[in-house]
Amino acid sequence: MEDLNQIVDLAKTAFQQATTSAALEDEKAKFLGKNGSLTALLRGMGSLSHEEKKARGAEINKAKQEVEALLEARRDELAQALLEKRLADEAVDVTLPGRTMGIGGLHPIIKTWIRIEEIFRTIGFDVADGPEIENDWYTFTALNNPPNHPARSMQDTFYVDMVDEDGKQMPLRPHTSPMQVRYARKHKPPIKVIAPGRTYRVDSDATHSPMFHQVEGLWVSDNISFADLKGVYVDFLRRFFETEDLVVRFRPSYFPFTEPSAEVDMMFTSGPRKGKWLEICGAGEVHPNVIRNFGLDPENYIGFAFGSGLERLTMLRYGVDDLRLFFEGDLRFLTQFN
Ligand code: DAH
Repeated sequence: MEDLNQIVDLAKTAFQQATTSAALEDEKAKFLGKNGSLTALLRGMGSLSHEEKKARGAEINKAKQEVEALLEARRDELAQALLEKRLADEAVDVTLPGRTMGIGGLHPIIKTWIRIEEIFRTIGFDVADGPEIENDWYTFTALNNPPNHPARSMQDTFYVDMVDEDGKQMPLRPHTSPMQVRYARKHKPPIKVIAPGRTYRVDSDATHSPMFHQVEGLWVSDNISFADLKGVYVDFLRRFFETEDLVVRFRPSYFPFTEPSAEVDMMFTSGPRKGKWLEICGAGEVHPNVIRNFGLDPENYIGFAFGSGLERLTMLRYGVDDLRLFFEGDLRFLTQFN
């Protein structure tokens, strides 16, 4: 009897000290297993008389039931503790906002591009798109820039190891102006079109990048004037910068494909950027030779054109002072625009 109570006490302590279910099952083996102490006692009854066997057997079984009950209780305790730990570890704060999909954002230059298209579409301009690897003829000759003309060196052009149908090496377009010719040869006047796109020049500093963006504009009709070009462009700028407080001036300049040619400057008349002329655009009346290359008679048609840099417009709109930021892909910069 004494030994049985001791075994039950030992089991109680051993089970209590087991802190994992694996350890608990090991402890169980020491008492109830094949070589466990209670099993050994049962086996040891062989030498007893029938009467003694009955009494002793009952005592051992009672002890066994007590050990089994202790084991069961400890199993429940450990299972409960495990559950509580998991619930705590995997707790979900249902008050936190949901995890949304990262949707990314548009690059500031692309935002400008889209904005320009939207504004010009509302005033009846079509939007055209063309090749970045261009023919020599569209890039230069058709724009009144004949072979060997010094004006060709106005742009430091990249060339691709590829020749066009005239056997001329093909440039990466240094401006979007070739699109004037491509579009005008395929459409009947009146023509109102813009052609935004990527352009390339051998140029790299805080305000120039070898790859940049321009938007070309062309308006060909039989009865328009510089005043119309100016009206459209000023209206565009006011809407682009979302302010009426800006003025525009046309300064005489030179481009081979326009005559007369102008450089367009603008100035904000209020706000932090007020009071400084900024050059934003080349423009002019399309040269008669170029009108001819459109397949039109310059006696009957007159055209006005402009070309603006998208980087420049974007820098002015957001107050960015280094153009290289647009091309470094630094998210600390880019995420500010979304
Ligand atoms: N293509 C010129 C450049 O890249 C800009 C330009 C000037 C475009 C006058 C025009 C224009 O359409 O009429 O600098």
